[in-house]
Amino acid sequence: MSQATPSAAHPYTRIAIVTGATSGIGEATARKFIAQGFAVVGNGRTAAKLARLEQELGPAFRGVVGDASDEEVLNQLFATAVDHFGQSADIVVANAGRGLGGSVKDADLAQFEDVLKINVMGALRLLQRAAQKMVVTQKTDFPKKAADIVIIGSVVGKNISPFSAVYGSTKFAIHSLAEGLRREIGPKGVRVTLVEPGFILTGFQDVAGYSEDMVNKLEENWGPMPHGDAIADAIHYVVTQPPHVHVSEIMVRPTRQDYP
Ligand SMILES: NC(=O)c1ccc[n+]([C@@H]2O[C@H](COP(=O)([O-])OP(=O)(O)OC[C@H]3O[C@@H](n4cnc5c(N)ncnc54)[C@H](OP(=O)(O)O)[C@@H]3O)[C@@H](O)[C@H]2O)c1
Repeated sequence: MSQATPSAAHPYTRIAIVTGATSGIGEATARKFIAQGFAVVGNGRTAAKLARLEQELGPAFRGVVGDASDEEVLNQLFATAVDHFGQSADIVVANAGRGLGGSVKDADLAQFEDVLKINVMGALRLLQRAAQKMVVTQKTDFPKKAADIVIIGSVVGKNISPFSAVYGSTKFAIHSLAEGLRREIGPKGVRVTLVEPGFILTGFQDVAGYSEDMVNKLEENWGPMPHGDAIADAIHYVVTQPPHVHVSEIMVRPTRQDYP
């Protein structure tokens, strides 16, 4: 069994931390998890959106406001799982991140430190914390229970696209950290999974500075475009495999997206 049996004391089958839960892939993942009986500690910088999610999703969702590259916010995420749901998190989804449009020659580098800070440093800090805790719990829990670290990479973390090579460099970095961590702690019973979305219609395009014209052209070429729920379904599939089975990498594109 990969999931605990719910009881009055522990009504949720899994406890998940999801960064970047206020929009797109993270929000869809939080919704999917809760619909499937998990509890979620969701993070983002937009307090009002987290408050709305708490109201809508009820006691299974708890928000932690703040920057996911901040040590204190990360501490709060893990503490909230225990304080609010009575158990440490057994799923951590490192999802918070942002894009940056433009090529190596032309991208606006004034924003690149911000991109690096959340996409690489923030994600790495979260991975370290999750790994250190899960290695300890899995000493006794594996193979009765699963522990999952899910990392949102990208198709541009594997294929070099001149169109978004600057943003892509942060995803190449996180792909290497994901595989390094998998090799390190997979043998200790912790599943580290890399999810590689293609073009998914979310808040990402706006934050990355893609023009409306460009998004329309991409839709024309590759549409219909998937939304965050397509990635949420893939993540749910990964984390509900039996604890001794690991789908360690999964790429999800619009059917008509040829490259990257
Ligand atoms: N959409 C795509 O085509 C695509 C493709 C490949 C990979 N991805 C990756 O998927 C992940 C999610 O993106 P998305 O497509 O769902 O975009 P999105 O709709 O813009 O969502 C991004 C989420 O990250 C949060 N976030 C950004 N910076 C943050 C920070 N410093 N601290 C805490 N939260 C932060 C945002 O919340 P706040 O603004 O409230 O903080 C938001 O909830 C990212 O890692 C992105 O690189 C997306």
